[in-house]
Amino acid sequence: MTTPMTPMRTLWYMGAKTRLCEEFIDGAVRDLVSPGATILDACAGTAAVGRWFAGDYRIFANDAQMFSSEIARAHLEVTHEWSQELDLLEPESDLATAREANLALLEKEYANALNLEEQLLKRILSGNGKDEEALSEYREFCSASPVPFQKCSVSSGEGESGSMEDPFQSIRGRLTELLNQRRSDRTLTPAMMCTAYWGQVYFGLRQSIVIDSIRHAIDNIPMESRFCKEKKSLYLAALLHAVSVSTSGTSHFAQPRSVDKDSELLAVVKRRSIDIEEQFELALDAIRREVLERPRLSGNKVFCSDVLQLLCEESPLTGESVDLVYLDPPYTSDNYSRFYHVLETLALYDYPELQCRGDELTKGRYPVRENRFSSEFCSGSRVEGAFRTVAEGCVRIGAKLLISYSGDTGLLTRKWQREGHDQPAARLREVMLEYFSSVEVREQQLMHSGQGDTNKPVQELLLLCEV
Ligand SMILES: C[S@@+](CC[C@H](N)C(=O)[O-])C[C@H]1O[C@@H](n2cnc3c(N)ncnc32)[C@H](O)[C@@H]1O
Repeated sequence: MTTPMTPMRTLWYMGAKTRLCEEFIDGAVRDLVSPGATILDACAGTAAVGRWFAGDYRIFANDAQMFSSEIARAHLEVTHEWSQELDLLEPESDLATAREANLALLEKEYANALNLEEQLLKRILSGNGKDEEALSEYREFCSASPVPFQKCSVSSGEGESGSMEDPFQSIRGRLTELLNQRRSDRTLTPAMMCTAYWGQVYFGLRQSIVIDSIRHAIDNIPMESRFCKEKKSLYLAALLHAVSVSTSGTSHFAQPRSVDKDSELLAVVKRRSIDIEEQFELALDAIRREVLERPRLSGNKVFCSDVLQLLCEESPLTGESVDLVYLDPPYTSDNYSRFYHVLETLALYDYPELQCRGDELTKGRYPVRENRFSSEFCSGSRVEGAFRTVAEGCVRIGAKLLISYSGDTGLLTRKWQREGHDQPAARLREVMLEYFSSVEVREQQLMHSGQGDTNKPVQELLLLCEV
């Protein structure tokens, strides 16, 4: 048995189990299945749990979100041949040419705005947020940023840049046409989705053009080159990490941070000064190190599916043998597809149609709702059914089930509390006992670090279900 280590934190992610692997989940898994067995991390998120066990167990990982499965793939689908190549990998030889070409085109398109951004970021940082004039110029600069897609754009003062000469003049009138062309042909250069959709919203302008350029370079690794698929997953996982830790929003993408208050603006400017390429390289090194230090067992696989479908009779899992399903679903009605839409859209890179409220784009710049995954675990009326479907599926494939859930703040446990059950954890156990002959509940008090509830203890549950 190799000694597990705390895996790198791949993303800023709500509900990531990085902290809980060692102190809580490890013991439960080892009580249920012996090393060498196959574990399906069914709602993998950052893949923290699958990665924790990957030295001793064969891991299948799944998530409904494509960005999560790409991260899992980079960390888990590592054959012996690929790990040998990883040791020698030279990312610059794979990426530099296409990245620099895209960067040069975008630098030309946005030349004035990039110059202005560089000056303003410097002035604000060197004055530590006290240079009033620089702060107000930066606000003006942010609101001058062109909003993509004219038909629903005309938002707060676009194009009315007050005393400032329009730094986006050269691109403003052509932006919608450029984006429409790219919707029909995603290979057109310069790749510019991040810059157009999220520049000055979740990232600075320089950051956005670097993100677009690295993403474009990843897509341009020739299909026929050796380890093309593995390289694309690895580089994309590293880029997702870089983007996640560099956003000028909070730790997620449900809303951009407002720059109305000086202190908020300074915080945004600090984040917009983060070097994306440096974060990308750091993430790349961390993934390589983790994977090389703990060689993976053969046969790991990653799926990108609704777990309710994955556990159905006809699914990509058919014919595979799974010993333990680890289920860590969303705990609340907040769909991950809304909180992390930027990561999903960056993974898809498809210039999606954006949601409007009335005639204006939403502040969060979400893709239209139909294109975002909606989880049954986030629906009050369907969440119990979702747990039951997973239990049924596990019994059908002969797998044990380990569930992570919240005893007091979960959508289902709160619903039961409201309905008069004073012990919702016991109620969840009863439901599982309809499918399994033995269900053990373990509890841990945890300090919550989610939105708004910081420092409130919550009850973290594990249910160990065996036939
Ligand atoms: C609590 S997070 C999992 C965190 C993960 N254990 C970690 O340590 O990073 C829940 C995950 O479930 C995924 N998800 C939600 N509903 C799903 C479904 N029906 N099928 C598959 N994945 C789902 C979300 O995309 C999210 O990544």
